[in-house]
Amino acid sequence: MEIDQRSDLYSLGAIFYEIITGNLPLIVNDLVEWTHAHLARKIETPENFNPSIPTIISRIIMRLLEKAPEDRYQSAYGLLEDLKECKRQITLKGAIEPFPIAHKDVSANFHLPKKLYGRYKDRIVLKEAFDYVCDGHAAIVLVSGYPGIGKTMLVNECLKSFVQEKGHFIAGKFDQLKQSIPYAPISAAFANLVKRLMTENQEILEAWKKKILHALGRNGTVITEFIPELEWIIGKQNPIDLLSPKETENRFQMVFRDFVMALSGKEYPLVIFLDDLQWADSSSLHLLRYLSQDANLQYILFIGAYRENEVDENHALTDMLTEFNKGKVFFRHISLLPIEKKQILEMITETLHTGNENITGLVETLYRKTAGNPFFLEV
Ligand SMILES: Nc1ncnc2c1ncn2[C@@H]1O[C@H](COP(=O)(O)OP(=O)(O)O)[C@@H](O)[C@H]1O
Ligand SMILES: [Mg+2]
Repeated sequence: MEIDQRSDLYSLGAIFYEIITGNLPLIVNDLVEWTHAHLARKIETPENFNPSIPTIISRIIMRLLEKAPEDRYQSAYGLLEDLKECKRQITLKGAIEPFPIAHKDVSANFHLPKKLYGRYKDRIVLKEAFDYVCDGHAAIVLVSGYPGIGKTMLVNECLKSFVQEKGHFIAGKFDQLKQSIPYAPISAAFANLVKRLMTENQEILEAWKKKILHALGRNGTVITEFIPELEWIIGKQNPIDLLSPKETENRFQMVFRDFVMALSGKEYPLVIFLDDLQWADSSSLHLLRYLSQDANLQYILFIGAYRENEVDENHALTDMLTEFNKGKVFFRHISLLPIEKKQILEMITETLHTGNENITGLVETLYRKTAGNPFFLEV
């Protein structure tokens, strides 16, 4: 979860809550419970606590304490405007009548509309892979292309919409400067999934716990060492035997395989997007290769993206491509091309709200200057 000004607004909500009700919004016993409570537990409204608290004040505080940052106030400005209105009414009438809150709330950050233009054939490849996975198989899709061509956006936009009905989409990104830390983005992606599962109710969490513990057996620590957040669900695990580095890697691969199998299923296919694979550490690549040889994986889609121009024949990924082609898991490779003139036209029309005839010159120039690379189009 990312932290921004809306986290501060949440904290402010907690402070207001305590000032006005005399109680904390959430009361728990230990650290693990805190996380679960913040993510999932319903907060009683201040008005419920004390009916003499004006409805509107209660609503304002509850908006600050929303679980999802996008449901909170987006700016302190929006909050301040509402508080000023409360003060005005109190001064004028001695009471506050309910009014629509967050009316003047605007996000402090400027967001360009994010929309995926074109890419129709590539979307179909991704959709087919996803449908195939939903039918009880596993698949690997690699997306390659120049930096800025739109790999990350294509995968994010498509897969987020596919999993909306069912499934989990998790993502991690390899970092050029962190290649010495094995599996870092994979563990980050799964830590996020754990956080998402923590928002489920106790009964569902218990079911996950059982399923995961069953899959991991006595090897729980193999995974919790690498995703400590998992202890929130399955608790502390017993120590494991110390093995040689090679054996440790082999054990990790096997246990990880069982772990992802436990996390995926017919009702919740799992999509794992690993971005910037050109910078992947060798353990992560070994892991992917190991998984690509497993004919029994089900309901799992691996997507990788990498910069074509940074992967030559000596790069470890080149061997992987051959392995994936020979592997037991369904494999597709999308090589992203520049976007077409048609799409630039569409983009410009929608951004500038003007008709086609005025902008053909602009489109020509942009197409020539950017060679259809959407990143350069934006800057
Ligand atoms: N098909 C597209 N339609 C609209 N914008 C796009 C498209 N592809 C990429 N972009 C924009 O171009 C920029 C670069 O895309 P990104 O996916 O980050 O490229 P890559 O991952 O290949 O380096 C992003 O800001 C993205 O929003
Ligand atoms: Mg990218």
